[in-house]
Amino acid sequence: MAIGIFDSGLGGLTVMDAVRTRLPDVPFVYLADSANAPYGVRTADDIYDLTCKAVQRLFDAGCDLVILACNTASAAALRRMQESWVPQDKRVLGVFVPMIEALTERQWGDNSPPREVAVQHVALFATPATVASRAFQRELAFRAIGVDVEAQACGGVVDAIEDGDMILADALVRSHVDALKRKMPQPQAAILGCTHYPLMQAEFQDALGADVSVYSQANLVGESLADYLERHPDKIGTGEAAYLTTGDPVRVSQRATQFLRRQITFEAA
Ligand code: DGL
Repeated sequence: MAIGIFDSGLGGLTVMDAVRTRLPDVPFVYLADSANAPYGVRTADDIYDLTCKAVQRLFDAGCDLVILACNTASAAALRRMQESWVPQDKRVLGVFVPMIEALTERQWGDNSPPREVAVQHVALFATPATVASRAFQRELAFRAIGVDVEAQACGGVVDAIEDGDMILADALVRSHVDALKRKMPQPQAAILGCTHYPLMQAEFQDALGADVSVYSQANLVGESLADYLERHPDKIGTGEAAYLTTGDPVRVSQRATQFLRRQITFEAA
């Protein structure tokens, strides 16, 4: 048994790295569905089917708890999976809620009615499927009132990152920030609502300006997972850590090593 971390590709490694630092004794199995990435341009049904298949692979690897380190899967598939697919003895958690809790300054499990919060103008950068789902706005409405969210679907950024074309990724980030600013000239906070985007965090911050607080999920998810495991220690496994991909392990290992600046070796899933 180990804890599973799933993403369509390399983006979830930003979450994986943070949770490994926070929980160094816990074995993690990472699965990148590289053969089917990007998910952000697919339909909700397609994302649901692919995510169930990937999570089943992690259950088969002995994981009782799987973190969807992918906003697109969290937004388009998680609720349906929890309602009708996840077996009783397993858990699947997403990455949206910890970020919204941080933005709304709430503690884990605070179910009090929605209230006014410090930030009122929030820019959301995410994949087309995440933006179309409106899952972020729905979760936010449970916790906060009076927050104006302007969402920008960042087409092309995930493909450029997966291809290792950081010049294109940089140009796309800047054009998406410009497009967002035409709709909301002065956001107070920006949410990087795709786990690939922390790999471009400096570019987002630079394009947005120093006075915009940029929230990314990695550390927030690390804290939430540590808190969850304190309350559910039976979900920590003792199995073998691994990096699995449905794509070409050599190519995926090269990209991952380039991004994280340490050797990462993927095996075929
Ligand atoms: N990292 C995924 C997310 O957080 C990527 C999406 C994709 O494959 O398009 O949304």
